[in-house]
Formats: sequence, structure tokens, C-alpha cells
Amino acid sequence: MFRIRVCEEEDVVEGELKSFSVDGVDVPILVTRVDGELIAGTSMCPHEDVSLVGGCIRNGEIVCRAHGYAFDLHTGACSHDPTLSWRVYKITLASGQVYVDLA
Ligand code: FES
Repeated sequence: MFRIRVCEEEDVVEGELKSFSVDGVDVPILVTRVDGELIAGTSMCPHEDVSLVGGCIRNGEIVCRAHGYAFDLHTGACSHDPTLSWRVYKITLASGQVYVDLA
């Protein structure tokens, strides 16, 4: 496991899905804020590798714009296909910077 810096906390707006490219990480990292809580995960949908940035947040899930699959914001579990899971990352805040732990 290693910890990487993704963005500044103030870059993340409530309900907005933003992705950040990080040196050494192949897929941009998506960060959002829901009810004040920061959430981070891979920016790609595990269904067919479409960017989740154009999706939305609804009822505690991130919803992909392509086929509407939804993934739990905390566990990554997919409510449409239990074989799929969105990769979520543990967040650490330090001095206004957002860090995530990669496996
Ligand atoms: S690519 Fe995301 S639901 Fe199909």
C-alpha cells in the first residue's frame, strides 16, 4: 500500500464528480464530496471502462452515465451486477491536501 496526494481539499465541491491525474497512476482518481464527506475511487466504471465523471450521485451511490449502473459510495458494491465493484480508496486529509491509499 502506498499513499499519494491527489488534490487540495478545496478543489472538491459538494456533489461534483472530479477526476485528477496523478503521476504514476494509470487511471485518474475521482474525488467527490457527499454530505460533507470526501469520497474517492477510480474514475472508470468497472462495467465497460467509461468515465464516471459524467455520472451523478444518487441515494448513496455513484451512477454511471453509460448504462445507469450504480455503485455504493463506501463499499463500491454494484446494485445492478453483484460481480462488479467500483474501486474505492481510503482518504487521508493533511494540511488541506487529499491523499488516497492505493493497494
Ligand atoms: S459503462 Fe458504466 S454502466 Fe456500463
